Amino acid sequence: MDRATPYDKVPYTNNAHANTHIANLYTLGRIFGLTPPDFQRCRVLELGCGRGGNLLPMAWEYPESQFYGIDLSQVQIEDAQRDADALQLHNLHFKKESILAFDGQHGPFDYILCHGVYSWVPELVQETIFRIIQEHLSPNGIALISYNTLPGWYFVRALRDMMLYQEALFPEAHDRSGQARLLLSFLKEHAQDQNMREFAAREAQILTDRPDNYLLHDHLGDDNRPCYFSDFVGRAAAHGLQYLGDTMVKIMFLHNFSAEVAERLSLLNNQIHQEQFLDFIANRRFRSTLLCRSGSPIQNALQEVVQTCAVRLLMVAQQPPLQAGEAIPDSRDFVSADGSLLTVADPLTIALFDTLAQNNQKPLPVAELLHMLRARFAIGDAEGIHHILLNDGIRLFTAGLLTFHADAGRYTLTPGDQPQALPVARHQGQESLRVVNGRHQMVELTPWEAALLQEMDGQTPWQTIVERMQEKQRHSQASDEADTATIDWQAMRHKLAREALLLA
Ligand SMILES: C[S@@+](CC[C@H](N)C(=O)[O-])C[C@H]1O[C@@H](n2cnc3c(N)ncnc32)[C@H](O)[C@@H]1O
Repeated sequence: MDRATPYDKVPYTNNAHANTHIANLYTLGRIFGLTPPDFQRCRVLELGCGRGGNLLPMAWEYPESQFYGIDLSQVQIEDAQRDADALQLHNLHFKKESILAFDGQHGPFDYILCHGVYSWVPELVQETIFRIIQEHLSPNGIALISYNTLPGWYFVRALRDMMLYQEALFPEAHDRSGQARLLLSFLKEHAQDQNMREFAAREAQILTDRPDNYLLHDHLGDDNRPCYFSDFVGRAAAHGLQYLGDTMVKIMFLHNFSAEVAERLSLLNNQIHQEQFLDFIANRRFRSTLLCRSGSPIQNALQEVVQTCAVRLLMVAQQPPLQAGEAIPDSRDFVSADGSLLTVADPLTIALFDTLAQNNQKPLPVAELLHMLRARFAIGDAEGIHHILLNDGIRLFTAGLLTFHADAGRYTLTPGDQPQALPVARHQGQESLRVVNGRHQMVELTPWEAALLQEMDGQTPWQTIVERMQEKQRHSQASDEADTATIDWQAMRHKLAREALLLA
C-alpha cells in the first residue's frame, strides 16, 4: 500500500466550484470566439479532484457526458466513488492516480479542470499538468487551471513564513491550525507596523469561515508556489496552449478600472501585459485561467452569444419591486452585493432590469424574458430589448454584474405540491450540512433544513411532509428542551427553493 498523503490524513472539504462548471466554460469559450464542444455530450477530466464534489453534480446533470476524476489520495477517491455509486452515476469514474502517472486513458477530453492544485504541487507536477492538457485536450477543448498569484500572495507568504517559524518552535503542538490562527490574532493586536496589523486582520477575517483543513493545506502545506500571471501564461505557451480568459471576466477589462489606469494601460496594447499590470494594481492573489490550443482564433463574440443565452442580473432593485401593469417610474436604482450602484432612467431598460432583478436567483432565457415583459408591462418591443442587452447587457457582463448562461439549470424557484430536492444535494445532506445547489455552489443548511430536504422525494404531498416534520420536531422536543421554537415549514420550503435546491 502507498504512503498516506497529507490529504489522506486530513481530507479537503468537498467542494463544487461554480466557475468551473462545464456549461460556464462552454459559454465563456463561445463569448471569446471559440466553438467549444457541446457540454451535454462531452468528456471531462479533473486533475486532483479531491472527494469528487465538483464532478458529481455535473455527472448527474449531463448523463450523456463522461466524467473522469483522478487524485493522489486513496481516502478521498474511495469517498468520491461511494457517492457516485450511491447516486448510480455510471458516467462518473474516479481513480486513485498521480498526475505524474496519468496516461491519457479515456481521452481526448473536451474540458480539463484543475482547481486548487497547481500552486500546491512540485514543479514537475505543474509541468505535467500543462503536458497532460497539451496532449489530451480535444482540438476545440477548454482547460481551467486555478492558482495563487503574485504579487498578492507575497503578503500571505509573509504570514505563512511566520506560521511555519512558530510551528518549528513548538513541534509538539497538535492543533496546527489553531496555533496559526492564534498567531494571526497576536499580529492583528500587537504588530507595530500598521500594514502588518491590517493584513493579519484581513487574513484572519478570510479564514474565519474556512475550515481548519483549508488553513492546513492552503497556507501550511509543504509545497506552496504562487506565480505571476504572465509567467503562468508563458509556461502554458511553451506547451502549445494560449490564454483564453479568466472565469472572473471583470478582471480582464480596462474599463472596470479608473479612466487614468485604462488610458495608461491601453498604451501597452497587449492583453497579457495589461492584465499583469491590473494584477499589480489589484494586488491579486488568485486566478482561474482558461486555456485553449495555441492558434485558436480568439475574438469577442458576445454579440452573437447574447441572443442564445439565458441572462441573470446580479443586482437587486433598491425600491420595492414593480407590480404587473404598474406605471414604470422615471428612474430606478439597482445595487449589487458588493455595493455597485446603477441608476436607470430609460423606461424599457427599467422594465427589463426590474424583471431580471426580480428573477435574479435563476437565469432567464431571452424568449422567456420577452414573454414576461409582455405579461408584466405589455411591452412587445423585442428589438428594443435585444438592443439593450447588446449594449447595457454586455457592459454589465464585462463588469461582472450580469451573467450569460448556455444552461439555465435544472432547478425551480417555485416549489410544487410534491417538491423534490436535487438528488445530489439530498444525498450529500445525509452526512453533511454543506450541500451543492443547482447553481453549482455549496450551500450551508441548518439541521432542520437538511431534514426537510430528505423528505422532499418528489412523491410525497407537501401536507404529509409538514406533518412528518412536525412529528419529528415533537419527538426532538421531548428529548431536547431547548428546541421549542415554532418552525415555519412553508417559509423553509421557499427558502430551499430560493437556494436552488429543488428540482424543476
Ligand atoms: C487543495 S485540494 C483541491 C481539491 C479540489 N480540486 C478542490 O478544488 O476543491 C488539492 C488536491 O490535489 C490532490 N493532489 C496533490 N498532488 C497530486 C498529484 N500529484 N496527483 C493527483 N492529485 C494530487 C490532493 O490529493 C488534493 O485532493
